[in-house]
Amino acid sequence: NSILVLNGPNLNLLGKREPHIYGHETLADVEQSVIAHAAGRATVVCQQSNHEGTLVDLIQDARGQFDGIIINAGAYTHTSVAILDALNAFEGKVVELHISNVHRREAFRHHSYLSVRADAVVAGMGTFGYLASLDYLLKVLGD
Ligand code: DQA
Repeated sequence: NSILVLNGPNLNLLGKREPHIYGHETLADVEQSVIAHAAGRATVVCQQSNHEGTLVDLIQDARGQFDGIIINAGAYTHTSVAILDALNAFEGKVVELHISNVHRREAFRHHSYLSVRADAVVAGMGTFGYLASLDYLLKVLGD
């Protein structure tokens, strides 16, 4: 199996940005631990962009190339029909991921444009959510 881990805006600042909410691990730390967790079970490719259109391009490029996507779209979760449409054009499994428990935060974080397309939604597990999401995808995709 091949899995794309896609992180959106401001997640490049992971570990430095609001560590009381998002923790002290950097994005590089998280990407390395997902790749290590997948070792011998799946091929993992990690990408990050601050740009909505680039995220759309990356999701389009994933068509036919990946069996699943783990996406933390950051703030675009709450604004982007374009990312929803791109995910709707992807045939594989989709996990929507949030490091924080968005439901315990500001009301504008409670709605996601992506959840109607997501096979699973993970929120509030911290960066462990990436590993949990990978295990879920490998379970539903079959090894
Ligand atoms: C986030 C939650 C979003 O509301 C926020 O805009 C982010 C990160 C999370 O991982 O908890 O950038 O997706």
